[in-house]
Amino acid sequence: MLEKKAAQADHAIIPEIKNRWSPRAFADKEVEKEKLMRVLEAARWAASSMNEQPWRFIVARKGDAHYDKLYEGLNKWNRKWTWTAPVLIATLAKKRFTKNDSKNYHSWHDLGLAMGNLSAQATHEGLHLHQMAGIEAETVAENFEVDTEGYDVVTLFVLGYQDESRLEELEERYHEAELKKRERKPLNEIVFGEVFGKNPEWLNL
Ligand SMILES: Cc1cc2nc3c(=O)[nH]c(=O)nc-3n(C[C@H](O)[C@H](O)[C@H](O)COP(=O)(O)O)c2cc1C
Repeated sequence: MLEKKAAQADHAIIPEIKNRWSPRAFADKEVEKEKLMRVLEAARWAASSMNEQPWRFIVARKGDAHYDKLYEGLNKWNRKWTWTAPVLIATLAKKRFTKNDSKNYHSWHDLGLAMGNLSAQATHEGLHLHQMAGIEAETVAENFEVDTEGYDVVTLFVLGYQDESRLEELEERYHEAELKKRERKPLNEIVFGEVFGKNPEWLNL
């Protein structure tokens, strides 16, 4: 855990949130199967609209025959650093409710909740992940025979043990972000009361 990467939180938050961050340099170390199972289990227990559980995951560990097929789904920028990580996972969302085939407008939202659970569990296990929108979703769909009428390929993410010493093996452009403090908008930019854009009084007391 890099101390400087811990959230400089204005209010006390649980360690699983405070200590989560998105590294690019990962140790050359496998993720234990039990830990991988536990992070996926955490995703499984997220809330979802109508309990649809629209999330799906395609998991590839380095050394798996299908690892390269999943790696092809990264865009060229993300290919420059993701190779240090031992696990690569694609996230997908089911577009329609199984029950009545109506459009599920919250499937990406619910996948995000599952990812929040997964992130918290990973942090608890001493693992880190780095999620990516910079992907070629069509390539993932094609390589894994995904029914794109039914499912969106949403992101790819890598999972593993963060290792600062591995940074030397990455292009210099990635070094600064890996070491700098994390920043967030203050609560008064995102929390409103009686009118959108206006903070509730209690927020600034
Ligand atoms: C949906 C999503 C897409 C992202 N896409 C990329 C990406 O394509 N490449 C990348 O290097 N980082 C990507 N990130 C990582 C973000 O840049 C990172 O989470 C953000 O800067 C906040 O940093 P932190 O996670 O360390 O707090 C993505 C994160 C999310 C949640």
